[in-house]
Amino acid sequence: MTTKTPTASAASSKQMKNSKFHKLFLQELKDIYWAEKQLVKALPKMKDASTSLKLSKAIGSHLEETEEHVNRLEKVFRLLDERAQAKKCEAMEGLLAEATTIVEDTKSDTMVRDAGIIIACQKVEHYEIASYGSLVELAKKMEHTECARVLAQTLEEEKKTDKKLTKLAESEINEKALQE
Ligand SMILES: [Fe+2]
Repeated sequence: MTTKTPTASAASSKQMKNSKFHKLFLQELKDIYWAEKQLVKALPKMKDASTSLKLSKAIGSHLEETEEHVNRLEKVFRLLDERAQAKKCEAMEGLLAEATTIVEDTKSDTMVRDAGIIIACQKVEHYEIASYGSLVELAKKMEHTECARVLAQTLEEEKKTDKKLTKLAESEINEKALQE
């Protein structure tokens, strides 16, 4: 008697670890781990380049959250019994290069620059929301319940930051930029 197809309960963690789906999950974790670490380096520059105190504060508090996002990813790697390894994320590299260009192409102490910084930050947030949203679903599917919970915490913070930035742009910065 041979049984080739493992039952759901037979999908042991060892088999799961070797599955292509699990490898995809790990690749994506390494990608966002690199992205978050780069962001920790880039956010202080965006904070310093911004003029509005509210924007500067928003970026500052997101920097603190981002440091925690790095810690959480390290926790996820530990939970999976994997080494925390960063894999270069071309998308984040590009988004951060765009952010630098926006700062270079706008004058300091202007709301136009702040409006540009918000656009750059929101592009980053949307990339992260897409990444974490997918990671949470993959973790759930593979029954990595604790990993899913930890990743969902970060997902919520990215969404909140995105909303905060939208509010800031719509309530004052874009209007002031229009007057310049
Ligand atoms: Fe993040």
